[in-house]
Amino acid sequence: MEKVLSVNNREFESIGRKRTYHAVTYGCQMNAHDSEKIVGMLNSMGYELTESEDNADVVIYNTCCIRENAENRMYGNLGYLKNIKAGRKDMKIILCGCMMQQDSVIEKIKKSYNFVDIIFGTYNLYRLPQLLYTNMETGAQVVDVWKEQKEIIEDLPSIRKYQFKAGVNIMYGCNNFCSYCIVPYVRGRERSRSSENIVHEIETLVSDGVKEIMLLGQNVNSYGRGLEENITFAGLLRKVSKIKGLERIRFMTSHPKDLSDELIEAMAECDNICKYIHLPLQSGSNKVLKAMNRKYTKEDYLLIVEKLRKRIPGIAITTDLIVGFPTETDEDNEETIEVIKKVGYSSAYTFIYSPRSGTAAAKLPMEDEEIIKTRFNKILETLNPISYEINKKHVGKVYKVLAEEVSKNDSGVISGRLDDNSLVHFKGGEELIGNIVDVKINDCKTFYLLGEKI
Ligand code: SAH
Ligand code: SF4
Ligand code: F3S
Repeated sequence: MEKVLSVNNREFESIGRKRTYHAVTYGCQMNAHDSEKIVGMLNSMGYELTESEDNADVVIYNTCCIRENAENRMYGNLGYLKNIKAGRKDMKIILCGCMMQQDSVIEKIKKSYNFVDIIFGTYNLYRLPQLLYTNMETGAQVVDVWKEQKEIIEDLPSIRKYQFKAGVNIMYGCNNFCSYCIVPYVRGRERSRSSENIVHEIETLVSDGVKEIMLLGQNVNSYGRGLEENITFAGLLRKVSKIKGLERIRFMTSHPKDLSDELIEAMAECDNICKYIHLPLQSGSNKVLKAMNRKYTKEDYLLIVEKLRKRIPGIAITTDLIVGFPTETDEDNEETIEVIKKVGYSSAYTFIYSPRSGTAAAKLPMEDEEIIKTRFNKILETLNPISYEINKKHVGKVYKVLAEEVSKNDSGVISGRLDDNSLVHFKGGEELIGNIVDVKINDCKTFYLLGEKI
């Protein structure tokens, strides 16, 4: 890090401006969190943020391969970068993240995108400074992708996107091998961080002004397995909940198969754990769930929901759904719709199944595209009115809202979130950002609430 910094400082003295970077993140919260570390390292090496890739000295793409369209978007943008780089040979292009863990991708980039300068994967992002230095010295393409995690590196510098909220990794990887999913192949086996390291990181964040944290893992409910200390996710939550000054705790993602009664109790008893859970259903058909290797039935799922609703009144439940998984029939889709109605989701992400090479489901024959689209639309038609009805129940009430950002559409409007993660827009100025304010809800749409600060 120091070596690159000193090169950049010399440059700064000679050209009179700092070198700049532009970072683009694809994919999930895990990737977004990794990007905060990447940006932290770039900053420590003397680079400065620039909003556009057109004039950046370093462009870095932190990639995702969960569905084919995530990959296609990345290749599309890379084509655009090629043109920019043609006119600016000293520009550095760096690719990292989940996509880079696939051999086929590395081959394709080496062959067809040889203007890329540096490639690394998900296990070694802390090596960025070394790789950058090597590339500066040699001018050659540097590829450093590991097949597994060798060690968990703590205390990397990090620049948070928001001052008042932060993500905290509690575990890495995934052991579940859902038959459609690439994550276990690109993020490796499950590894939990010690509760001491997690609590220490959160305490530091809170003393730096963070009010809300999101505990991150592909399956937070199995946190603690394989650690020397005897701790469960519920135990970790209780520890974290005691941290003074921490107002809101969220977590994602919860796998239904590992959701314990102990977790529900911890959520019910600790005031600063948000009344909110993201609980991916994927499908409401037992036959499809089995083929997906999800290891729960719709009955198991509905029982969890019943317990959550009983013990944590007002809890908001959101989900992920996959439409068009191989072997799925219209009847299976109807079963999913039935479960959606029974649960009453506040919102849901609905994805069209995308075969990922190397996964078990990739060998199965695909469903017809038109049929899948019809099923997809049926699901959305079911979800949207339910979201609207749930939002309507908020109207007329007053809630604590964490003011998060100036609305993208109106500079006099602030967007914030309720404890239950509902999005609300209300009139206000930038000075409110990062504060928890009382907001009365006056109106609602399907995907958000409208309110006023009181
Ligand atoms: N670990 C989380 C999910 C991570 S991926 C969990 O188990 O819930 C986020 C979502 O992407 C998944 O919940 C799933 O709905 C969707 N997804 C994953 N692989 C997919 C694929 N091959 N095609 C379509 N959607 C997929
Ligand atoms: Fe993928 Fe399943 Fe692991 Fe989630 S639990 S990351 S869907 S394999
Ligand atoms: Fe994508 Fe990797 Fe996350 S594949 S969804 S960025 S773990």
